[in-house]
Amino acid sequence: MNDNQSPQPLNLLASLPSETVSPEQIYHLVGEDGLTRLISAFYQQVPQDDILAPMYPEADLAGAERRLRDFLIFRFGGPSHYIEQRGHPRLRMRHALFPIDQSARNRWVSLMEHAIDQAAFPAPVATALRAFFRDVATFLINRA
Ligand code: HEM
Repeated sequence: MNDNQSPQPLNLLASLPSETVSPEQIYHLVGEDGLTRLISAFYQQVPQDDILAPMYPEADLAGAERRLRDFLIFRFGGPSHYIEQRGHPRLRMRHALFPIDQSARNRWVSLMEHAIDQAAFPAPVATALRAFFRDVATFLINRA
């Protein structure tokens, strides 16, 4: 047996994608099922939340859930149904109606982090999701 033929380098290569996951790889790694599970876990918390519940459409939470899920499927490298149905995301414009200050942003992120824990994704995916949501949520702050 020749030591130069050891499988070590191949294993290293195989482990690379799991160390840093980009948003565009997430759909491929967790699939539609994974993202549906995540967004469902997020929306289950919304009706009980004192800051967020008043902002979301009580009568169309299922629609809100579908819009966020379809957006994320698209943003994370999957099919672009969101764009076909809703057009360009324009997230800052679409959130302008909602009073998003630091505490609303923090609450949204905290519900999403709880949902990420519940979804039990592989650690590199969970890390990439946390970074993505924190950044976008900060970008959406529109009130002091
Ligand atoms: C920072 C705190 C946030 C608050 C308070 C907030 C609140 C809301 C509310 C009230 C809606 C309307 C629900 C509906 O009827 O669709 C909405 C829609 C949406 N939000 Fe957020 N959001 C926040 C952060 C985010 C983040 C971080 C993302 C993306 C990563 C996001 C993506 C979306 C999308 C895609 C929609 C649907 C837009 C549409 O097509 O009309 N939101 N958000």
